[in-house]
Amino acid sequence: MEEQKIVPRHVGIIMDGNGRWAKLRGKPRSYGHKKGADVIDEVVTECFERGAHVVSLYAFSTENWVRPKEEVDSIFGLLGILIDKKLAKLIKREVKLIISGDISPLPESLRKKCLNAVKKSGKFNGNVLNVALNYGSRAEITRAVNLALESGKTKITEEDISAGLYTAGLPDIDLVIRTSGEMRLSNFFLWQCAYAEFYFTDVLWPDFRAEELGKAFDWYSHRKRRFGGV
Ligand code: IPE
Ligand code: IPE
Ligand code: MG
Repeated sequence: MEEQKIVPRHVGIIMDGNGRWAKLRGKPRSYGHKKGADVIDEVVTECFERGAHVVSLYAFSTENWVRPKEEVDSIFGLLGILIDKKLAKLIKREVKLIISGDISPLPESLRKKCLNAVKKSGKFNGNVLNVALNYGSRAEITRAVNLALESGKTKITEEDISAGLYTAGLPDIDLVIRTSGEMRLSNFFLWQCAYAEFYFTDVLWPDFRAEELGKAFDWYSHRKRRFGGV
């Protein structure tokens, strides 16, 4: 009998390298974002097909606002188009969409699309797609602490913080994948990654397809996780 492969329950993906991918081709950065948006569905679908239950995608960080307005607008525009194009598929597959981050400063039309998608998929309790949008982990943890304080707590536990995170109720991240050769977390789910395995690849995000995802999952299946034990 073929050996059962160990699969991450929760995969976090830092989709990086769109700008460099475009630059290599003499194109504007927004073109890289467009190509990057085009591969998201394939990679997320592959994660679920390989047995992951939660996929967390880094779409826009709290630090990304410093980019030229034109680029920020193009990213938001693409995210809106992606929701329009893929919401029906998410619902058909009973995937629950959640958004991690403060969406209040986003353009009204994108904010509405996000709220609608979250509402329409809210009843599902199978696989979860968690999109980190205007997300920063330090802001998230600070918010969780404040929520606990506001509820009257004077001594805050780890459980209180976990319960106040956008990912409350979800398992911790098992595997983080970051494309484009950068080996850093860039404020991505610091709390939830406490015991994650890290897979870094030089492949730029628009070139990261199902086959590349397979390599990351294969690598993960050979990791020996100890969680402090021997
Ligand atoms: C990742 O690609 C997408 C976002 C941060 C929104 P980048 O835009 O960071 O691409 P590089 O890192 O500049 O190549
Ligand atoms: C992280 O990528 C954020 C997203 C992928 C959305 P960045 O490109 O913003 O990260 P740094 O600036 O290289 O750390
Ligand atoms: Mg980058």
